[in-house]
Amino acid sequence: MLIAPSLLSCDFSKMGEEVVRMDKAGADWMHLDVMDGHFVPNLTFGAPIIKWVRPCSDKPFDVHLMISEPLRYIDDFASAGADIITFHAESDSDIAETIKKIKGHGIKAGLVLKPNTPASAAFPYLQDLDLVLVMTVEPGFGGQRFMADMMPKVRELKEEITRRGLDVLIEADGGIGADTIAQAAKAGVDVCVAGTAVFKADNPAQVIRELQQY
Ligand code: DX5
Ligand code: ZN
Repeated sequence: MLIAPSLLSCDFSKMGEEVVRMDKAGADWMHLDVMDGHFVPNLTFGAPIIKWVRPCSDKPFDVHLMISEPLRYIDDFASAGADIITFHAESDSDIAETIKKIKGHGIKAGLVLKPNTPASAAFPYLQDLDLVLVMTVEPGFGGQRFMADMMPKVRELKEEITRRGLDVLIEADGGIGADTIAQAAKAGVDVCVAGTAVFKADNPAQVIRELQQY
């Protein structure tokens, strides 16, 4: 299992140091949660902050856009150094156009599904995607409870990806830790985001190592 610590749970007064700390702790990817206070009821940071912390690690930057108009900002996040940009199927931007815009920058594109959005919403775009991110909490805040009832959605996606012989990763985000990751792994998740579980741990390196075993 690849583990992507979510910087949403870091100490924002030293975000660069936190990225270095996660890099040294063995994180596979860095997960950066961008919220606009409109698509979700919370605000975080934008492309300039990502650009500032970009030199702190060579690990892939997985930028999760929880914003209403992702298409408008793809150029900014790509120039800031994102390696993967994921955006919501429920946003106001045209999905096919947004994927095309992301891939035009030579980086990976992912589509995110909120808990109430079915797997089938991603099916028409699967051949153009590198990743599908299944939310296992309602997006907006860290520290929420893992929704185990999202696992059938993961299975459905996995089956469709396999059936069509595609190379698309499945990522899960929200409430993942030592007590829940086995369910995600069993359902076919390839990459797990973990905020609270990693940042609130006394020994993040040990937690990351443990989660990577799945
Ligand atoms: C939620 C974010 C997540 C969140 C995960 O809207 O997309 O990435 O930070 O945090 P935990 O692991 O604490 O649920
Ligand atoms: Zn996220």
